[in-house]
Amino acid sequence: MILVTGGAGFIGANFVLDWLAGSTEAVVNLDKLTYAGNLQTLASASDNPRHVFVQGDIGDTSLVARLLAEHRPRAVVNFAAESHVDRSIHGPEDFVQTNVLGTFRLLEAVRGHWAGLPEVEKTAFRFLHVSTDEVYGTLSATDRAFTETNRYEPNSPYSASKAASDHLVRAWHHTYGLPVLTTNCSNNYGPYHFPEKLIPLMIVNALAGKSLPVYGDGMQVRDWLYVKDHCSAIRRVLEAGKLGETYNVGGWNEKPNIEIVHTVCALLDELKPRDDGKSYAQQISYVTDRPGHDRRYAINARKLERELGWKPAETFESGIRKTVEWYLANAEWVRNVQSGAYRDWVNKQYGATPA
Ligand code: NAD
Ligand code: TYD
Repeated sequence: MILVTGGAGFIGANFVLDWLAGSTEAVVNLDKLTYAGNLQTLASASDNPRHVFVQGDIGDTSLVARLLAEHRPRAVVNFAAESHVDRSIHGPEDFVQTNVLGTFRLLEAVRGHWAGLPEVEKTAFRFLHVSTDEVYGTLSATDRAFTETNRYEPNSPYSASKAASDHLVRAWHHTYGLPVLTTNCSNNYGPYHFPEKLIPLMIVNALAGKSLPVYGDGMQVRDWLYVKDHCSAIRRVLEAGKLGETYNVGGWNEKPNIEIVHTVCALLDELKPRDDGKSYAQQISYVTDRPGHDRRYAINARKLERELGWKPAETFESGIRKTVEWYLANAEWVRNVQSGAYRDWVNKQYGATPA
């Protein structure tokens, strides 16, 4: 079996569901269930005997040690993190706590367990750390896409805390020999994405008749990858990645934010037109930019393609259509995640939004 951390969040839950569907191995899923964790996402796995959910913190060394001793996973895949840049600007401490200290404690618990394993299990063991392209900082319009040898130049509290965690993972390999792998992925989108991130926020606000807040001039560029493709990349790296190496994961889909918002509006115009027949694009509203907003991210994922034969299955066009369709078909999931905590965040970040 494998141990997944943060498996009730957006990417972790997609990974767990795909894993249960595509393999015969069991998963122990350790998640603290912060505002971003949602057991509803895992409802289809609740009766599956191959899925063991444990609510807890990656920073709880004794809990992690107990889970490792009890279940003896062959691998740990670490998704658990505070992941939202805007939240990291309002409250960076949680990011340092989970992403830095939590990763450190998780590494220590895993190292203690791994060191005591019999040789065969020790050799086969893997610790895969899921990270982001944001650790590389920002690019100008003409810079080359990030490769694995780019300097780390994180600019937000979120990316700085993820960069710190990547460095700890690297050091635990070089110093203690822990068999680690790291993936640095671009922006994900797809089912079960918490509606405080760009794409789900735009879908949910559009349908609710609210404004679509675009930061600054909307010309910031991100590379977008469908979440299931990120999950397949992680499985591939886990299976065949070279120990101690890092792999960039991306979708070759660089797009300015405003184009993303227009694409979402056009799909909604087609699939669920407004009652008045006007376009959802009418709801777009330019708002104050994010402080320190990185202008462009772009990922060169050739290493993963060349060495491990991975390629994304979805184009942006196919993935975004599936995503909008998923949100239209899963209004109840959306309603349920829009709890008090979600509303508090929206008020804090955007002020009272026009109804
Ligand atoms: P998310 O915020 O949706 O989910 C994070 C999950 O981790 C939640 O279920 C939360 O409850 C859990 N968690 C938080 N703190 C914890 C702790 N101390 N102990 C145990 N569980 C804890 O995030 P996501 O978008 O699914 O991202 C998952 C990972 O992928 C993160 O490490 C993130 O940095 C990385 N990543 C995300 C993206 C993206 O576009 N979303 C892109 C590249 C990399
Ligand atoms: P986000 O989904 O928060 O991901 P990240 O900041 O990690 O890339 O944001 C994606 C882009 O969309 C980013 O450039 C910020 C922008 N954005 C908006 O313009 N409006 C919004 O309301 C949000 C949440 C994001």
